Amino acid sequence: MSTPRTLRRLPSNLVNRIAAGEVVERPASAVKELVENAIDAGAGRIAVMLKEGGRSFISVVDDGVGMSPQELELAVERHCTSKLPDDDLTDIRTLGFRGEALPSIASVSRFTIASRPAGADTGWSLDVDGGVRHSLRPAAHPQGTRVEVRDLFFATPARLKFLKEARSESAHVADAIRRLSMAHPAIAFRLESEERALLDLPAASASLLKEVDAARLQRLATIMGRDFADNAIAIDANREGFRLTGFAGLPTLNRPTAQHQYLFVNGRPVRDKLLAGAVRGAYQDFLARDRHPMVALFLEAPPQMVDVNVHPAKTEVRFRDSGIVRGLIVGALRTALSAAGHRASTTVADAALGAFRPHTGQSMSLPMGRGSVPQVPRGLAEAAAQFMAPFAQPSARVETTRPDAANATGMSYPLGVARAQLHETYIVSQTDQGVVIVDQHAAHERLLHEKLKNQLEAEGVKRQALLLPEVVEVGEDGARRLAQRAAELAEMGLVLEPFGLGAVVVRETPALLGEADIQGLVRDLADELAEMGDHLSLKEKVEEVCGTLACHTSVRAGRRLTVEEMNALLRQMEATPHSGQCNHGRPTYVELKLADIERLFGRR
Ligand SMILES: Nc1ncnc2c1ncn2[C@@H]1O[C@H](COP(=O)(O)OP(=O)(O)OP(=O)(O)O)[C@@H](O)[C@H]1O
Ligand SMILES: [Mg+2]
Repeated sequence: MSTPRTLRRLPSNLVNRIAAGEVVERPASAVKELVENAIDAGAGRIAVMLKEGGRSFISVVDDGVGMSPQELELAVERHCTSKLPDDDLTDIRTLGFRGEALPSIASVSRFTIASRPAGADTGWSLDVDGGVRHSLRPAAHPQGTRVEVRDLFFATPARLKFLKEARSESAHVADAIRRLSMAHPAIAFRLESEERALLDLPAASASLLKEVDAARLQRLATIMGRDFADNAIAIDANREGFRLTGFAGLPTLNRPTAQHQYLFVNGRPVRDKLLAGAVRGAYQDFLARDRHPMVALFLEAPPQMVDVNVHPAKTEVRFRDSGIVRGLIVGALRTALSAAGHRASTTVADAALGAFRPHTGQSMSLPMGRGSVPQVPRGLAEAAAQFMAPFAQPSARVETTRPDAANATGMSYPLGVARAQLHETYIVSQTDQGVVIVDQHAAHERLLHEKLKNQLEAEGVKRQALLLPEVVEVGEDGARRLAQRAAELAEMGLVLEPFGLGAVVVRETPALLGEADIQGLVRDLADELAEMGDHLSLKEKVEEVCGTLACHTSVRAGRRLTVEEMNALLRQMEATPHSGQCNHGRPTYVELKLADIERLFGRR
């Protein structure tokens, strides 16, 4: 915050340029404004209390700089702020800037604000009832500010009617505080509702605060879950004065909605289509369209390059040059995801281990005294039996390597040496540290995807002509879209043209694909083109299309592989970026560490 700070009325020409509209829609929006004020005031602890979801009572208490009695009187006046010292709406460095929040809240509630600035020996308190100001009175108060809001919307019954039940309103309040807290790990936040703590976020310890990343990750872990912290990659990238930091979840840690994507611009939580689109673009290679990554990204922008004065609730921003921002986000995320290489999320291995763990069933009725070995669950026992007796059951084909082959290679490959193929779908390999199980179809799809992309970049894709051209019904819109993109698709090896109403005829396909499922492929492409619209660059489209192409190749699951083929696949995976997950975000392999396996069998 700028010093010295003076609280004063904004000149009217400036007032007219501030985005006007409803500031207080529900308890959560009042709390958001009050907590933002506390953050701007340099608070170290902020405590919020609610009754009836905030409808009958809200209090927000901070230990920030506080206000003198003169400042208190101004603070509840419209258009009075201490935060625009140079009248410059293009240089906003605080969360507030309009001088709107307190008077707006005070005009629709019974409002009390009490405060004491540093160095003063007493505090002062001021009441405002439905916008009508009472006189100042001295009040005992520690340094900092307390705002109490009673009977929100008491004078506007129409708005009262729109409030949801208390639990839903408090959930919104908690969400607003969580978002703000993610950008401020040095501040302790607490939320109580009807004397129950809904949030209790301690400030990062002093030693942790020296490591910005560690402090932030600790706060993020409390809010987004341990899983996120364990499976996130740190981001740090710059471009033309913009800086992006934060954490990006591995694609294998995906969710069905974009709800777990938190974006901040200069410490302000925002919901922004541009930013969300950039995240989607960066991950599209790794995730199915209906899956979403978890991210918490913090963009620091030069204040002149971003306009926060576009929405009355200050939840949206506009960038002077959105291209730079988009490029920065997509580039930073892609680089980080590539560097993470074939790391798959620990969640996957944990889930696998969980599945292996003995479940309570008949086997658990056996006594398990000290020193006894836990029962092996049925599924694992069967797998083990098949493994131990490869040739006993004709239906369970198990390929084993010659033992000396493994020794000769020293087993130092990250994905180990192939030992067996199970159910004609999974490759089991032995590593220095444990056991790896590879989904051969997912792995193959990923490798093919990368190959297609590389071939395309290097020399363009080789095509194969179909003996019998194939007609695919895709609907009129689909046919039109495919026809529009025919030239680009041909470059990727797919030659097609319109065929009557609502259909296309496919004449050539990428040679790499072998016998692809052309019907499924073309229909998916049509859907994809509709989804992508014109938002994506050609390069991004190409990559998405490559993913779709790879997915529709002759399926390798259910195919028997020789030991040589299995090992070749493992070596290729090691050499291929992003091989930890197929392009739908499913893992291509899981690794079980020996230590975990030993624990399963009670050896540790
Ligand atoms: N918790 C607080 N501690 C210290 N000063 C405060 C606090 N809350 C408000 N103020 C002072 O009161 C002024 C008015 O607050 P108000 O929230 O109405 O406007 P603002 O924060 O300046 O802008 P905005 O309307 O965008 O929030 C602030 O500029 C600040 O000087
Ligand atoms: Mg404010």
